[in-house]
Amino acid sequence: MKKVIVTGGAGFIGSHTVVELFEAGYTPVVVDDFSNSHRSVLDALRALTSADLAVYDLDCTDAEKLAEVFRDDGHICGAIHFAAYKSVVESVRAPRKYYANNIGSLVTLLGVMQEFGLENLVFSSSCTVYGQPDALPVTEATPLQRAQSPYGFTKQVCEQLIDDLVDAKSPLRAVTLRYFNPIGAHPSGQIGELPIGVPDNLVPYITQTAAGLRETLTVFGGDYATPDGSCVRDYIHVVDLAKAHVKALDWITTQKSEPFNEVFNLGTGEGVSVLEAVRTFEAVNDLKLNYTVGARRPGDVEKIYANVDKARDVLGWRAELRLGDAMRDAWNWQTTLAQRGFAKQR
Ligand code: UD1
Repeated sequence: MKKVIVTGGAGFIGSHTVVELFEAGYTPVVVDDFSNSHRSVLDALRALTSADLAVYDLDCTDAEKLAEVFRDDGHICGAIHFAAYKSVVESVRAPRKYYANNIGSLVTLLGVMQEFGLENLVFSSSCTVYGQPDALPVTEATPLQRAQSPYGFTKQVCEQLIDDLVDAKSPLRAVTLRYFNPIGAHPSGQIGELPIGVPDNLVPYITQTAAGLRETLTVFGGDYATPDGSCVRDYIHVVDLAKAHVKALDWITTQKSEPFNEVFNLGTGEGVSVLEAVRTFEAVNDLKLNYTVGARRPGDVEKIYANVDKARDVLGWRAELRLGDAMRDAWNWQTTLAQRGFAKQR
């Protein structure tokens, strides 16, 4: 049995990855403290996979509890580490929380993995490590800029920690995945991004506005040096992203080399503006969205999108779903949430 520890497996990207792992013949073992996810996700995962999912409710910074997972579950072939806080805005307000959890959980996981002789790791990073790059699209060789937020810095530190362990010849075979902007939801409407508080991210804000839970979407900035003045991003469907984790794990397990940390960008390779994203949402769902163009949001980069050749050439992965698919699935998920009684929060 190919068991895989999935920390943060009840979260947005984690839950979609759990489904894809099952479909690829792996047996995911979910580790989550439910600090930013909901236990109802587990019922949805069990329904989607028709499997008896193993779940550990614990904080990954707790080494003793985490060790129990590895002790109880033999035949573990790798770990995918999602568990982290992810709000740029909150990280500016509460940096210590981000340093303690995001760095602490990786330090702890790596220690426990070493204790149990587990070498294979897939680490969740973010394109935020690039800051505002000088040239686009960004490749994995694009130099990292000073982080724009404590959140971004925790991702840079975690990447560096993995590199340092590799340099120290620690037995570690790692893939670091730099996500661009994950959006959408599972097409079944059973799992997606859960609304905890006022969303910072664009697509949940769009779907909540369309559902009447928020009055108006503010497009942050209309005077950027982009074709329509709004920021440009590389939006990737979460199901495509989830599939990349399976490819990454498959790839690591076939490598025979010395310790390594291979970094991959995960995006579509296409830059899309905020206004284009809004228009696509309206078109595929046949809706009109209330929005205004307002002031810039501090800390936003003007434009960023990925060169994804390395993931295609090495992992044999590329994004298959389109922006319209993601916007349709995000809206389908929002309507499911309404039926389940998830009301507006804050
Ligand atoms: C950033 C990171 C990303 C990280 C994510 C975590 C960069 C380039 N990207 O995403 O890697 O995973 O944080 O949260 O650093 N917007 C509006 N109105 C809104 C909300 C957003 O116009 O109400 C705009 C933003 O200005 C931005 C775009 O939509 O241009 C996407 O914003 P968001 O979804 O928050 O993600 P990023 O900040 O790009």
